Amino acid sequence: MPLSADSPLYPAITDIVNAAADPDPFDEVKAVLSFYTNRFHSLGRLVHEEEDDELLLHASPNLTIYHITLSPGVQYPPHNHLMDALIGIYRGSETNFIYPATGDEIDTPERQDFVAPAVTHMSPDTIHSVANTGNGRSGALHVYLGDLPGTSRQLWSLADSHAEPFDNDRYMAGARPIQPE
Ligand SMILES: [Fe+2]
Repeated sequence: MPLSADSPLYPAITDIVNAAADPDPFDEVKAVLSFYTNRFHSLGRLVHEEEDDELLLHASPNLTIYHITLSPGVQYPPHNHLMDALIGIYRGSETNFIYPATGDEIDTPERQDFVAPAVTHMSPDTIHSVANTGNGRSGALHVYLGDLPGTSRQLWSLADSHAEPFDNDRYMAGARPIQPE
């Protein structure tokens, strides 16, 4: 489903693209993302919604932007990005499971809960799994300082601890209900 012509996402995309062209892209993008996270939060609704949880808004050699609306009760498989990631959660909550790794093997994760409005950073070597432990669909902008769709990276099945090449179809198919702890 295309964005509506007056979607509030358009100015956000433009401003984040401009911020990423700054000599200090990390701090600029983080500042702009924080601004839009708060602005969208104040609207009190999702700024866009469709069936899929992920919508790719922009991908270029130095920047990738997704609008993410996680369905409640679903956890996606662990993966890395191999580039800085900035996540701006503007509605609901997102839970991040951060996995320690030895070589390609991942271990028991550390859980981090974020309630909107919140901005968090993941360094390039972070391995994480996202879930929505809230009651309604969450809303967030996920911003990466590189070409995420064009980067060879890794995915881990929730069922075992071994890495395989990241594949978006396998990633989406690997989503499962959050397991009770
Ligand atoms: Fe991720």
